[in-house]
Amino acid sequence: MKGLAILGSTGSIGANVLRVVDAFPGRFEVTGLAAGRNVEELAAQVARHRPRVVSVADPESLERLGRLVDLSGVRALAGTDGMVEVATEPAARMVVASAVGAVGLVPTYRALEAGKDVALANKETLVMAGELMLARARETGARLLPIDSEHCALHECLDGRRPEDVRRLILTASGGPFRNRPRESFLGITREEALAHPTWRMGPKITIDSATLMNKGLEVIEAHFLFGVPAARIDVLIHPQSAVHSMVELVDGTVLAQLGVTDMRMPIQYALSYPEKWEAAIPGMDFGQPLSLDFAPPDRERFPCLALAYRALELGGTAPAALNAANEEAVAAFLDGRAPFLAIPESIQDVLEGEPCSPVATLEDVLAADRRARERARQALARRTVARAIH
Ligand SMILES: NC(=O)c1ccc[n+]([C@@H]2O[C@H](COP(=O)([O-])OP(=O)(O)OC[C@H]3O[C@@H](n4cnc5c(N)ncnc54)[C@H](OP(=O)(O)O)[C@@H]3O)[C@@H](O)[C@H]2O)c1
Repeated sequence: MKGLAILGSTGSIGANVLRVVDAFPGRFEVTGLAAGRNVEELAAQVARHRPRVVSVADPESLERLGRLVDLSGVRALAGTDGMVEVATEPAARMVVASAVGAVGLVPTYRALEAGKDVALANKETLVMAGELMLARARETGARLLPIDSEHCALHECLDGRRPEDVRRLILTASGGPFRNRPRESFLGITREEALAHPTWRMGPKITIDSATLMNKGLEVIEAHFLFGVPAARIDVLIHPQSAVHSMVELVDGTVLAQLGVTDMRMPIQYALSYPEKWEAAIPGMDFGQPLSLDFAPPDRERFPCLALAYRALELGGTAPAALNAANEEAVAAFLDGRAPFLAIPESIQDVLEGEPCSPVATLEDVLAADRRARERARQALARRTVARAIH
């Protein structure tokens, strides 16, 4: 049995990971579960899987968890230290990084440092500290396997290919709910409209990232680090059907595309079973129905977040961490009703322009850049909200 630790077990990805675990009885032991504050869901998971270690966001959530489920024989912890404990538990061979945002960085990094294979959904961690994470993986021999469906597709298409045979990577994007919406009406975009993703059901933060196309920007940075391909050779295409998950163009002009249903259990199973292939419990593509495949370049004017992500990658050093921090702050403000949709790209641009970018040598460099960028983003968001209230 493969020991599996899941960071963010109560989220959309975490729940799908546990569905894959359940679909293959006897293959996995769930050694650890880490979540935030949804202790009701976590209590049910603990009762079912009896992990060796469990962690929640804070001591208050831990107390609530203790009232809901028998924790005897389970090491029950809280905060970043608790998540690190889940990620480095000796019985875990693989860590699924599926918490949302920067909170996953330290535990995922420690998992690689401890030589654990990491199945990565939590792309923000790689955006923040890609070079450091890959360096640790190289040192310890840990595998870094993508769960993001696009990167899973690229990983499959690149498997066994020589780097010099690859001309470019093409990430596909559904285009989100505002693909055809005129720019003039972006000011009035509501939370509900932005949360209505056309093809995928996901947590709120990545759903907003998909609406701004920042999700694709983060994925460009993720692809750069995972596959060692420069930004100039990573393209994005809008593909509303979300049937082609991504493509690789070879130097002779051949284009390899990976197709599949829009069900995250597919890329999750890919990462959990790699390099093996297991008979999936999910229905495959239905080619009995008409299927058209449309591709178009993204509109960078209407969706400036994509260009901002390329810019951060070009700047290098701490810039991607600053981009990520600014985006997390702006998305949280939009979801809480503290900032309009258009303030997301505007405040990120303020941060990228104002925040000095420096080289990254240690994890502390990244964490310090994250703190500085968040502070600057909060100021930028407050300025914009005041300015809008005046006009
Ligand atoms: N959903 C998808 O289809 C999809 C696809 C590709 C990539 N991803 C990536 O996967 C990651 C997770 O996405 P998601 O859609 O699953 O998000 P989600 O549904 O919002 O779940 C987020 C998870 O993170 C946990 N979390 C939040 N704050 C925490 C804290 N302070 N300490 C510990 N855990 C905390 C949450 O716990 P509580 O709920 O208990 O608070 C929850 O388990 C993101 O990085 C996203 O970009 C998602």
